Amino acid sequence: VQVPSTWKKEVHERRVELISKLEGGALVLFGASSKRRNSDSEYDFRQDSNFLYLTRFLEPDSVLVLRSTPPHTVLFVPPRDRERETWDGRRAGVEGAVSEYGADEAHPITALAEKLPDLLENVSLLWTIFRSPDLIDPKLTQAIFSVRARRRKKVDSPVAIHDAAELLGGMRLIKSPFELEQMRVAARATRDGHLAAMRAAEPGITEFELQRVLEDGFRRGGCRHVAYSSIVGAGANATILHYRENDAPLPERGLVLIDAGAEYEGYACDVTRVFPIGGRFSALERKLYELVLEAQLAAIAGCQVGSTIDAIHELAVQKLETGLLELGVLSELRDALGKRLVEKYYMHRTSHYLGLDVHDVGTYYEKGQAVPLVPGAVITVEPGLYFAEDDESVSPEFRGIGIRIEDDVLITPDGPVVLTQDTPKSVDEVEAACLGSSRAPA
Ligand code: GLY
Ligand code: MN
Ligand code: MN
Repeated sequence: VQVPSTWKKEVHERRVELISKLEGGALVLFGASSKRRNSDSEYDFRQDSNFLYLTRFLEPDSVLVLRSTPPHTVLFVPPRDRERETWDGRRAGVEGAVSEYGADEAHPITALAEKLPDLLENVSLLWTIFRSPDLIDPKLTQAIFSVRARRRKKVDSPVAIHDAAELLGGMRLIKSPFELEQMRVAARATRDGHLAAMRAAEPGITEFELQRVLEDGFRRGGCRHVAYSSIVGAGANATILHYRENDAPLPERGLVLIDAGAEYEGYACDVTRVFPIGGRFSALERKLYELVLEAQLAAIAGCQVGSTIDAIHELAVQKLETGLLELGVLSELRDALGKRLVEKYYMHRTSHYLGLDVHDVGTYYEKGQAVPLVPGAVITVEPGLYFAEDDESVSPEFRGIGIRIEDDVLITPDGPVVLTQDTPKSVDEVEAACLGSSRAPA
C-alpha cells in the first residue's frame, strides 16, 4: 500500500487541527466494520466518513486515537497475516499504519484491550462519536474502567466524555482545495454517466438498462462507487422521490428522472436531471421544466456567504408558486390554516450539505436560527415539481409528470460556483444530449 504524499499531508493537517480543538483531551474513533451480505460474502466495505476524513485508511475494524500529548496519532489496525492476506487481500499492517498512514505509533487491533488504557492514562477529557443504542463503544467503556483500576498507581482516569460529532462536522463542512479537487472528479464522472444515459434513452429499454449505462459512465470516470442508490424513474415513476425499483420499461413518450451521483475518494456528487424519452419535450413538459429550472437558477443565485438554506429554499418556492399560479395549478398560495399549497407538488427541501456523506455533516440550525452559509461549504440546490398519477387536483395532462433539477454548489466570497455545471441542463442542452443517441431525431 502506498499513499500519495498529497493525501498524507492533507490528513495530517486535519489531525493537527482537530487535536488543537480537543481541549487537552483525547479522541477515540472506531472505524466501520465489514458487514455480512449473505452466506460468507460481505457488502462492499465503506469506511466510516469521520475515520476516512482523519486517516483515509480503508481497512475494516480499525481504531484511531488522537492525543494532545505524544504519541499524537495512534492506529489500531488488522495485523499482517500471511494466510488471511492470501484469502482476503493485502493489509497495511502496523508498519504501513506508521509509514503510509502517518501514525506515530500503531498496534494490531487484537491488542486494543491491552493498549488502549495506556493511551487514556491521565486523560481527563475523552472525545468520541456518540452512537445508538449504546452511546459509546463497549470497548471504550472497558478501557475507561481499566484505567480506573490503576488509580492506586497515581493514574488519573477520564472524567468526561464529549461527542466529537460537531467538532468534526465543523471541519468537514468547509472543503479544502484538495477536497474540492476530489469532488470535481466525482462531478466529471457524474456528468459522463448522465450524458450517456440521455443518449441511450429510447422507448422499450428499461430503467435498469439506463442505470447500467449511467453507472458505467461513473466507472469510466474513475469512480468505483455510487454516492447513493441511483434513482432512475421513467414516466410517473419520476414522481416517487426515492424510487429505487429501476426496472420499468420506458414508455413511448414522457420524461425520465435520474437522480444519481458518483463517489470519488469517498466524496459524493449528487445530481438530478430530467429528459424527454423521444428527445423533445412536449409543450407542457417544457413549460414545467423551465419553471423548475427558473426556480433552481434563482436559488443558485442566492447561494451567497451569509445567506441560509432556508432563504435559498424560499427563493425556489416563490418562483414555483408564481409559475403554478400562472399555469392555473394554484389559485391561491395558502389554505385556511396558512399552509403553503405549493407543498402538495414540492414536498421536499431545496438544499442539503454535501461531502463525504451525500447528506453531509454540518448544522442547519443553532438555537432555532438558520445557520449562515460559510465559504467552502458545498450544498445541493434541487427544487422539483411532482404531480402524482392519481392527483385529481390537477388537470389530467399534468398527472404523472415529475421534475427535479439538482446541482452541487460551492459557496465562495465571489458567489456560487456550480461544481456540476457541465451536465446538460437547459432545454436545448438536454434535447441535444438526448438526440445524440443512435436514433434519428424526429
Ligand atoms: N439523492 C438524494 C438527494 O438528492 O438528497
Ligand atoms: Mn440531494
Ligand atoms: Mn439527489
